Amino acid sequence: MESDHVARNRTVWDAQAPQYVADAEKNWASNEPSWGIFGVPEAELGMLPAGLHGRRALELGCGTAYVSAWMARRGAIVTGIDLSERQLSTARRLQAEHQLSFELLQGNCEELPFASESYDFAISEYGAAIWCKPERWLREALRVLKPGGSLHFLGCSPWVHVCSPPSGALPLVETLEQPYFDQYRNDWGAEGVEFNLPISGWFRLFHELGWQVLDYLEPRPAAPSPERRHFATYAWGYRYPAEQVWKLQKPLPR
Ligand SMILES: C[S@@+](CC[C@H](N)C(=O)[O-])C[C@H]1O[C@@H](n2cnc3c(N)ncnc32)[C@H](O)[C@@H]1O
Repeated sequence: MESDHVARNRTVWDAQAPQYVADAEKNWASNEPSWGIFGVPEAELGMLPAGLHGRRALELGCGTAYVSAWMARRGAIVTGIDLSERQLSTARRLQAEHQLSFELLQGNCEELPFASESYDFAISEYGAAIWCKPERWLREALRVLKPGGSLHFLGCSPWVHVCSPPSGALPLVETLEQPYFDQYRNDWGAEGVEFNLPISGWFRLFHELGWQVLDYLEPRPAAPSPERRHFATYAWGYRYPAEQVWKLQKPLPR
């Protein structure tokens, strides 16, 4: 049976899809990837590995699939999977407008409908990375990657939970409002259910599942300003880590 958070998040994302159309159109029109809420350039984060040409790449929680489009334009054989049919319908329209074809599937990243060891690379930007139970989607991502394949994902830093005001009224504040250590399921009410862990918890989980950690990055905007992007201002993100990037590898057999 489908988990409660999956059903809720589908409803939330079907309802929010129209608000993501403008960003989708902008990102599909660009071939210069930039990442996260502050648009940190690819040159700083290296989210897309070199040598994608001819490789099988999977986007987990692709939404409007602009990351998939960036990978397809680099010659990858791409699959995007997402829970929300309405997000995917934006993606399909933009595929037609940009004459770019790749596989798009409706599904849940906690139970991937793919054969084991079938992808070379997987990525998630605010998709499975935050909306799925970490132990579930990371086990599935590990299963579907070939040995030596890598996974890059970007989502909220665990500091986001700590600096969320108890009223839920964003943006983030500069005081410690929530416990750091016990975070796991963050229920944003009408905004859906997210998951995060303390950094030590992520490390422990990667180790238990069998991932090798290659890198950990904390994306930072170029300059502070009072302008708000989603849950944080540029000023907040310049002083504290609003986001995290993990780069993992499925080990080769010894
Ligand atoms: C913020 S969008 C991510 C796409 C894009 N990178 C972006 O930042 O706009 C989040 C997406 O995650 C999807 N999602 C949430 N839970 C999911 C799940 N269990 N399996 C697959 N996709 C999921 C939502 O439907 C939504 O389209």
